Amino acid sequence: MVALRWGLALVLLGFLAQAQPTPPLRALAEKRGLQIGAAVEPSLLLQEPEYGTVLAREFNLVVAENVMKWGALQTSRGQFNFAAADLLLDFAQKNRMAVRGHTLVWHQQLPRWMYGSFGPAEMEAILREHIQAVVGRYRGRIAYWDVVNEAIGDDARPRLTPFAVLPDYIERAFRLARAADPQAKLFYNDYGAEGLGPKSDAIYALLKGLKEKGVPIDGVGFQAHLDLSFSPTKARMAENLERFARLGLEIHITEMDVRLSGPGSRAERLEKQAQIYQEVLQICLRQPRCKAFTLWGVTDGHSWRAASEPLIFDTDYRPKPAYFALQRALQP
Ligand code: XIL
Repeated sequence: MVALRWGLALVLLGFLAQAQPTPPLRALAEKRGLQIGAAVEPSLLLQEPEYGTVLAREFNLVVAENVMKWGALQTSRGQFNFAAADLLLDFAQKNRMAVRGHTLVWHQQLPRWMYGSFGPAEMEAILREHIQAVVGRYRGRIAYWDVVNEAIGDDARPRLTPFAVLPDYIERAFRLARAADPQAKLFYNDYGAEGLGPKSDAIYALLKGLKEKGVPIDGVGFQAHLDLSFSPTKARMAENLERFARLGLEIHITEMDVRLSGPGSRAERLEKQAQIYQEVLQICLRQPRCKAFTLWGVTDGHSWRAASEPLIFDTDYRPKPAYFALQRALQP
């Protein structure tokens, strides 16, 4: 009789364990005080029900993959088109998700009219009008803004962009953004600076200088568009993050994806991809100032690098080894 009771209890426990799958990433991240995010194309929310379901279940932060870029928002001078961005904001609010605004000042995806020959005074007016309109519209609803994106080139020198006719455009952009929304945390964001090296040195010097001048900058974003050759340890990523943290900056991983292409069997590469995701997340979790970990998309099917399957869900929304690796890293 006693044995039978134990048997029943075990069956019941087994059943309960099955009925209770491991919590989604979002729930695990919230327990660790981390924002876990994904880049979003709002049109997919309308086209593909599963996209929104997975997004809201697994993430507590969204960023616009394209719809908040200059070329999407201000198609001709003074004419703003906020429909898609509004849709994303509504989705985020409904699902209690924070929003990263991406991005105010970037040399890519600019509208054609921005390539006119403007003098410094006119460029200052253009910058001011854009930032006031965009940041002002979403004042209080966007927690973090990528104010300046990729201002340092691969040669570790300041990039030549249409904005550069205004020598202090970086500083001005941050001040304008602060004035338009004093609550939003303002970020500089770039790629290829995850580890120590000349480009990350240049960004460090830039941000240190801004801080010293009293420019309102709150954080730095490391995009983390990676491939299987990336080793966080060899790149000394933890050390790199630490020096930015010591400037008093908040740190976000902002656009992580890991291209699967390369030598080795598919299974091996999926494992390697998972390992890189896990290591980068662990580095973020061990750095007290690293507060957000964001992926550049939800599923491989809609990734900007779809062919190299860089994300944590496959085209059928099945979690890949990388998903489970993040889950493990987030376990208490
Ligand atoms: C990419 C988008 O994912 C693509 O859909 C678009 O065609 C080009 O831009 N760094 C950034 C992102 O800051 O805005 C870029 O997003 C990827 C590189």
